[in-house]
Amino acid sequence: MSLQLFGNDGLIPHGSCLLWFSPLFWTHATADALIALAYYSIGAALLVIALKRRELLFRGTSLLFAAFILACATCHVFDVWTLWHPDYGSQAVVKIVTAVISVATAAIMWPLLPHVVALPSIGQLEATNGALNAEIAERRQAQAALALYAKELEASNLRLEGTLQNLDMARRQLVQSEKMASLGRLVAGIAHEINTPIGNGVTISTSLTEVVRRFRAALQNGVLMRSVLDGFTEDVDEAARLLTSNLANAAELVQSFKQVAADQASSQRRQFDLRETVEEVIATLRPRYKHTAHKIEIRIRPGILMDSYPGPLGQVVTNLVTNSLVHAFADGDLGHITLTARQREDGRIDILYRDDGSGIPPELRNQVFEPFFTTRQGQGGTGLGLHVVYNIVTNVLGGHISLAPQPDAGTAFALELPATAPTLPRANGQS
Ligand SMILES: Nc1ncnc2c1ncn2[C@@H]1O[C@H](COP(=O)(O)OP(=O)(O)OP(=O)(O)O)[C@@H](O)[C@H]1O
Ligand SMILES: [Mg+2]
Repeated sequence: MSLQLFGNDGLIPHGSCLLWFSPLFWTHATADALIALAYYSIGAALLVIALKRRELLFRGTSLLFAAFILACATCHVFDVWTLWHPDYGSQAVVKIVTAVISVATAAIMWPLLPHVVALPSIGQLEATNGALNAEIAERRQAQAALALYAKELEASNLRLEGTLQNLDMARRQLVQSEKMASLGRLVAGIAHEINTPIGNGVTISTSLTEVVRRFRAALQNGVLMRSVLDGFTEDVDEAARLLTSNLANAAELVQSFKQVAADQASSQRRQFDLRETVEEVIATLRPRYKHTAHKIEIRIRPGILMDSYPGPLGQVVTNLVTNSLVHAFADGDLGHITLTARQREDGRIDILYRDDGSGIPPELRNQVFEPFFTTRQGQGGTGLGLHVVYNIVTNVLGGHISLAPQPDAGTAFALELPATAPTLPRANGQS
């Protein structure tokens, strides 16, 4: 069988079929040779592409296609060969192989067709590419804008931080200058107040020096008459009296300035009954109002115990009562003062001091605790009474004081004190 298939005994070459007719023979030979060459070239090219471009779509199909074309090329080679040599068995084998590859290629071509048709065209791809490029450019632009914005934000953040620091510094400076201003006011007030008695003292001592000079002259002239001696004694006496009273005034002022400092170290701390202490303080004040018709009522139940500073607390009550006697009531008035206290559940003590006098005008209400604020300038008022009260209540007793609303006539102060004063009283503050 194999001999019959691959042997060519008895077979005639294909050229014989063409009767070796030269034009026909060579046309077949040339055309088949050219087709074979072209097919080999196309197949080889396809093979190279499929092997080099591994990411290529339908690469398997491309390889099969290359094999199919190369097989076809071989078929045409055999067509040329069999013109001279009748090797039809070998040609048949090549044709069978070509047929198998062709059928396989054809079989996978059809299912592949929809996918190939659906592939975007180059135009579409270009359009998509263009859109993508535009989007990329847009994103780059947005990114650049974002980076710029971030930089600006960073810069404005830095500026804000700087502004904040400046503001904080300005605030500190303001607080500092406010402190300095109130210190300045205090010093100016002290200087102003103390200037009067000291100035008086200087004037008196100057005139006293003059009196002494005149007396000495009269003595040296030997004309010391009784009347001159009497006059001299009177002058010296008067000067001494004035000096004493002015110096006493100055001393009193210095004393009250010392109170402004609310010297806590000298304050004695102890346990006491609030009612008892208030009663004692009012008793010491009795000489100041016993000639008037005013009444002071203490509405404090016994048994409210405090561990605090009775001295400074007494000073507070004294100043409030003195103020009522001086500012609230006119001569002949029948003034009424009440002192009420109650202990809250949390132990703190509420004290309400009230008089039914002339009251404090609304526009002055937020100035009364300021140092040197007085409506009795030149009439014995220094304006330190309520400032001292404020400092004692807040810095020594550890509480609060404020002007309470007083719907009827008069003035009211509300105090809120801890039953146990703080062990380390806070430093002095300004009202
Ligand atoms: N009970 C009161 N009724 C009416 N006005 C008052 C009363 N208490 C205080 N004032 C007003 O508040 C001002 C300030 O009082 P503060 O005790 O500080 O000073 P002062 O009494 O004038 O002087 P100082 O107490 O130093 O002698 C007073 O001048 C007065 O106008
Ligand atoms: Mg006063």
